[in-house]
Amino acid sequence: MRTDTAIIGGGAIGLSIAWELAGAGEKVMIIDGRSAVPRATKAAAGMLAPSFEGAGRHLLGAASAALQDFSLRSLRAWPAFAEALQGATGMDIDYRPEGVLGVAMDDAEADALSDQADAMERAGVKAERLDARAAREFEPSLSDCVVAGLFALEEGQVDPVRLVGALEVAAKRAGAEMRFGVVARLETTGGALRLRLAGGGFVFAERIVVASGAGAFAVAAGMPAGVVQPVKGDALALSHGAGGPARVVRGRGAYLCPKADGRVVVGATETAGSDRLDPDADGLARLRDAAATIAPALAHAKEASRWAGLRPGTPDAAPILGPLAHRDDRIVFAVGHYRNGVLLAPATARLVADRLLGREGQWPAAFSPDRFAERSPDAAMSSTPAAARR
Ligand code: GLY
Repeated sequence: MRTDTAIIGGGAIGLSIAWELAGAGEKVMIIDGRSAVPRATKAAAGMLAPSFEGAGRHLLGAASAALQDFSLRSLRAWPAFAEALQGATGMDIDYRPEGVLGVAMDDAEADALSDQADAMERAGVKAERLDARAAREFEPSLSDCVVAGLFALEEGQVDPVRLVGALEVAAKRAGAEMRFGVVARLETTGGALRLRLAGGGFVFAERIVVASGAGAFAVAAGMPAGVVQPVKGDALALSHGAGGPARVVRGRGAYLCPKADGRVVVGATETAGSDRLDPDADGLARLRDAAATIAPALAHAKEASRWAGLRPGTPDAAPILGPLAHRDDRIVFAVGHYRNGVLLAPATARLVADRLLGREGQWPAAFSPDRFAERSPDAAMSSTPAAARR
């Protein structure tokens, strides 16, 4: 089988890139080795919330400012992205640009929210500061323990499972092929790149996009071992009746994302380095308690489901985008989106398509795979993802 671009990984990132490239007339094949819901996407609640999930929260070093810009660009690309996706597929992805509300439960948290509001204003991001009364008037589900709020007007959420379903349909309608299988080996010698599939058979490609999340393929493609590490996230969904939150609320120990079908997704734990997919009962009990402390009506809500997913973490909590210098530049990475794969899908897809199609622009230096290329495999393995250093 032969294609122009083979995309390894059928999550939000890989499928968005496939949709963009296929829409531009490229012959694209997505190769995905996993189940119906890809593992990084499974960890996601679908928050589009750079103010609460991104810059300043975990970020380290030089990538911080670049990621803030990239996150904002992607957030602002989301309305058109969602409209195009829903238009191309007729599928409802439950995209809700209705803002995200951060809440504080004590003075220290209120001070932190105020600092965050300052930073947002400096960055030109719309922020509204709320005192305790205003926060509860705005979001009546909040408990009396809330002492302050910060409303990020431009942010929002989408349903990640619906998103991935719609992206797959859109990519296929645009002409992308999808193949399920695990890539056992990548051979780069001579002519086209050759991917040997574990179940037998080959795919020949002019280039490869590595969008395999926390999966093993990044190492086969030249990334030192241990750079992209799984950060397990346990989450649950509650079926709530009246009195639950009307919008995304981020508070101490949990975030609450009400979905169109009446569920509230409550997330999420963080366990760096774990690639287990069994939900952790203790972590979920803590999330339930935290959710009920933020919004008391959830205390007796029935649990609808629980799950665990694997975020792709990196040492500086920023993604890895582009080819490795001095290596085969036909192999391009789009991995390590950590807590923000859904948010960053539109900007990542546009960037990768622009670079692969030779349009204007450059790979952002701050996200270069080369920032980790010098690490020996041992050093990389022993490093702790940013998430674990908080
Ligand atoms: N972005 C949500 C999470 O990673 O839990």
